[in-house]
Amino acid sequence: MFQFDITAGDKPALYREIGQALDGLTAGETDPIANMANAAALLWEWLPDLNWAGFYRNVDGDPSTGAGQELVLGPFQGKAACIRIPFGKGVCGTAAATRETQLVADVHAFPGHITCDAASASELVVPIVADGRLLGVLDLDSPTPGRFDAEDAAGCEALMALLAPRLAG
Ligand code: SME
Repeated sequence: MFQFDITAGDKPALYREIGQALDGLTAGETDPIANMANAAALLWEWLPDLNWAGFYRNVDGDPSTGAGQELVLGPFQGKAACIRIPFGKGVCGTAAATRETQLVADVHAFPGHITCDAASASELVVPIVADGRLLGVLDLDSPTPGRFDAEDAAGCEALMALLAPRLAG
């Protein structure tokens, strides 16, 4: 077991420290599932006020049309979750289809939000792209409305930029 002592004073510093831990854990490891699993564990341990933290992976459909593309549940921490999410559906599918971070203060106000854990009130989903290819998304859920802000989005985007090349297998 790896132990980290992360004692950051503010959010940007917290994400920098998580990034250093993530860098150390994933450097030299090429297995994407192992790296996603450790990333989910780190985020779950060090980000306060979460009820779910994990990944959905992109399962490629028809490469010429994109038909059949969907996300499939990957490593996570929290309650058992829905397994397959079509591109364009819910917060995760929207992040996958647009390749844009989705910062949702109130999941009940998000059209098509997919409820996996009824406790979830707010959500942050960050697309993971390497070499122009969407590998999947990072999904964080919180029971607190408005839990995530622009600093969380920027922090998680930086973490996924670090992780993306280490998920390509
Ligand atoms: N709420 C997500 C589904 C995934 S779970 O929250 C883990 C969505 O709307 O895509």
